Amino acid sequence: MSSISSPPPVKRVAAGALRWAGILWFIVAAIGQAAFISFILAFYGTRTASGDYAGWNDKPLIDGYIAGDATGNFIFAAHVLLASVVTFAGLMQLVPWIRRAFPMLHRWSGRTFLVVAGFMALSGFWLTLVRGTSLSNVSSAAIVIDGLLILVFGALAWRNAIRRRFDQHRVWAMRTFMAVSGVWFLRVGIMGWVLVNQGPVGMSDSLSGPADIVIVFGSYLIPLVLLELYFRAGRSAHAAPKFLTAAIVLVAAAFTAIGVFGTIALMWGPYL
Ligand code: HEM
Repeated sequence: MSSISSPPPVKRVAAGALRWAGILWFIVAAIGQAAFISFILAFYGTRTASGDYAGWNDKPLIDGYIAGDATGNFIFAAHVLLASVVTFAGLMQLVPWIRRAFPMLHRWSGRTFLVVAGFMALSGFWLTLVRGTSLSNVSSAAIVIDGLLILVFGALAWRNAIRRRFDQHRVWAMRTFMAVSGVWFLRVGIMGWVLVNQGPVGMSDSLSGPADIVIVFGSYLIPLVLLELYFRAGRSAHAAPKFLTAAIVLVAAAFTAIGVFGTIALMWGPYL
């Protein structure tokens, strides 16, 4: 039946559309994450290397540097500087060419990604729950749940790699990538929303307005749902789900591009 309604050329086009929509989204995200890494190194890296710790607060932060809080400042510095490492390692893992041509590099960057992602979650818990860095209960709850997902997904990605179940490993590794990218998506989501609406509609300074709530939880839940759709469409024998998912991914890529532009032009660029 399906071979009559969806002849092979249509299926080939559908599979190609899905694949290229995914690649386009990844290119946009890679540019945005490269900007995130560059900002971290140019802003936090230079100030930390020159001992200007108070300079972390030259941009708006909740706490950042607190005079006299050596432990908190040290953990903040480790968290923020390792954010560049986890983001870079995450991007490397998703490039198929690196995986195929340099399998040893893929294994080591994968271990680095998972170990540092675990540290990011644990240090994030500490900053939020022990140091008490929080804008609102709802935004803290959202990021703590993201941290828990990072730990669970990362452990499953690692376990499946050790057991050589590579299909499962790939699925959990991509879910980990989405959860780790949640904090980057949060920034992209905020700026994308502000630009699309020409202002902070439904937002508050404590990240607890109606739009903020959708964005703080959606920063990882929406990418994770889209990833599942992408997996399912890829496995589907029919052309329609592939075309539909490709269209959704293209819309996501367009929104991501707007948000990436916003983060570079308005969130990070002015502080460099
Ligand atoms: C794994 C991915 C993560 C990355 C890449 C990341 C990245 C960052 C960056 C770049 C900053 C500096 C703030 C800025 O310049 O905007 C930061 C601060 C912070 N992060 Fe994370 N983070 C991650 C995970 C988490 C998690 C899971 C939590 C909470 C459970 C968390 C809690 C915090 C807190 C509380 C601050 C301090 C903010 C302040 O003092 O203003 N992070 N993070």
